[in-house]
Amino acid sequence: MLRTHTCGELRSEHIGSRVRLAGWVNRRRDHGGLVFVNLRDRYGITQVVCDSEHQHQVFEAAHELGAEWVIFIEGTVRARPEGQANPDMPTGEIEVLADALEVMNPAETPPIEVARDTEVEEVNRLRYRYLYLRRQRLQANMMLRHKVSAFLRHYLEEHDFIEVETPIIIKSTPEGARDFLVPSRLQPGRFYALPQSPQQMKQLLMVAGFDRYYQLARCFRDEDPRADRELEFTQLDVEMAFVDEEDVMELNEAMLIEMVRTVAPNLSIRETPFPRLTYYESMERFGSDKPDLRFELELLDIGPDVAESEFRVFSGTLAAGGRVKAIAAPTTYTRREVDDLERIAKELGAKGLAWIAFEDGAVRGPVAKFLSEAEIEALRARGRASAGTDEPFTLLIVAGDDALVAKVLSRLRTEVAERLDMIPQDELCFAWIVDPPLFEWDDDEERWVAMHHLFTAPQEADAALLESDPGAVRARAYDVVCNGYELGGGSIRIHDRETQRRVFELLQLSDEEAAEQFGHMLTAFQYGAPPHGGIAWGLDRTVAILAGEPNIREVIAFPKALSGVDPMTGSPSVVPPENLEELGIAVVARRQPDQD
Ligand code: AMO
Ligand code: AMP
Repeated sequence: MLRTHTCGELRSEHIGSRVRLAGWVNRRRDHGGLVFVNLRDRYGITQVVCDSEHQHQVFEAAHELGAEWVIFIEGTVRARPEGQANPDMPTGEIEVLADALEVMNPAETPPIEVARDTEVEEVNRLRYRYLYLRRQRLQANMMLRHKVSAFLRHYLEEHDFIEVETPIIIKSTPEGARDFLVPSRLQPGRFYALPQSPQQMKQLLMVAGFDRYYQLARCFRDEDPRADRELEFTQLDVEMAFVDEEDVMELNEAMLIEMVRTVAPNLSIRETPFPRLTYYESMERFGSDKPDLRFELELLDIGPDVAESEFRVFSGTLAAGGRVKAIAAPTTYTRREVDDLERIAKELGAKGLAWIAFEDGAVRGPVAKFLSEAEIEALRARGRASAGTDEPFTLLIVAGDDALVAKVLSRLRTEVAERLDMIPQDELCFAWIVDPPLFEWDDDEERWVAMHHLFTAPQEADAALLESDPGAVRARAYDVVCNGYELGGGSIRIHDRETQRRVFELLQLSDEEAAEQFGHMLTAFQYGAPPHGGIAWGLDRTVAILAGEPNIREVIAFPKALSGVDPMTGSPSVVPPENLEELGIAVVARRQPDQD
């Protein structure tokens, strides 16, 4: 037996026991005739004492140990001396006096510090991933991830769901993002795609009668990675037959609540049942379809207050069909601070950022002089109600078209809240965002595109608008959001051919194109498709939120860099010409080596 206990296990009830431990040297401290070794494994850290007067050889060997060496010790558990107990360590009441020490594997000086959670460059976090993963925070994150998936499997099993695996190399279908393609050797010149989600397969499973399906599904999207977006990620993917929106939302809400209670009892959910906002309401009040509801700072429509203003930036924008909206930050800013906020606004496309500070009855700011007294008073009243304080507060105002104003103020809202420390850290604010539009207008392609995906059903009440006013048709879709992230999204699907045909027509998909791309779905729907719907959660995002990690890469064992590269293995890589030849592929453009 190499070890009798783990490094996280020993407590005062073990005092006097002989034990063997194995693990990594987390840290070594020399104190004259004593060497303290903090021995670490997945379960924790135990202090080992090597005393020159007890076992001189062990003491000598301990002296040579470096960080991350793998060692094995044998010794006796004893109480730490009076006053030396460490309440921050679960094993802090005891230590092990070693009388044997064996080095199983020395280690080179690690390029990343493991014992302390210091800042590490992204490239090194990834290149030496196995070292980075040894850090306690990452170990805890991976454990949490495991607990989340174990919980979900168990919960869904209890609710009659079955897990079905779906293929990873599939037919390429336009679904929103760009596909990753896989060349076929057996069918030269043809390609598979990696699934952006198992959307079509799970619907076909409903046609096949499986009724309640789930999968912890790997998904692949060739988009630019971001803090909350990876090239490959995991979804909790769910589909149900004979359900409506309420059934899907109810099940998922109950599962989310139970999940938090089970795996992250340190966090509290602010409001249950989860509040519901329509898409329009969310955009109007927060400028976002994934609002962070942990703080207020709602967007104020100040259009009515300044419609007649002499300040043309405001009245002109309104006259041209635009919006003038503001947030009331409960503070005043220095010139430099507002310049900084204006820079953020401009980076997002705003022409400027107007601000008015209200302080002790006075007003300050470059646009105040263009506004009448009545206008100022109207703004003061609106701002005061929103800021929730008498004064001082500052109105940050953006004029422009609706979408731009929403984008800029939504970002400023978060920026202001972060700077003022208005965001509680241990709270989860879930919400459902419902009734989104079915289509959005694509300016580049000059046509309607599906906002969710093209199998999403229109709301029955809006069916008549499909041809007359497509932009006004609401979808039977719902997103679950939490703390400013979109955690998941889903919809009730179209299950009748006629509606599907009308939707394809609107998306300017000809019968031939529809048959070519989705023939298998259309055919399947002819053979008795039950009404069905579902949802998918981003598992990485879910775990990141529970772990309090702002970047999903901290909860993924082996993620890619933001550039899409894996610095550890060196993927993507050049392949031998014969491999390409076999696939009938010629490379015409190659990334220059100096770009790496
Ligand atoms: P959707 O495209 O909204 O829906 O994806 C569902 C959830 O997956 C997560 N997600 C991502 N996470 C990390 N990196 C990414 N690149 C990434 N893209 C998406 C998000 C998102 O809410 N088939 C539909 C679901 C359905 O209709 O049932 C779908 O994939 O958390
Ligand atoms: P200007 O008249 O361009 O000098 O702008 C006067 C003030 O209005 C400056 O503080 C600008 O930042 C601000 N401003 C200009 N355009 C906008 C806009 N679209 N929305 C909000 N503020 C603006």
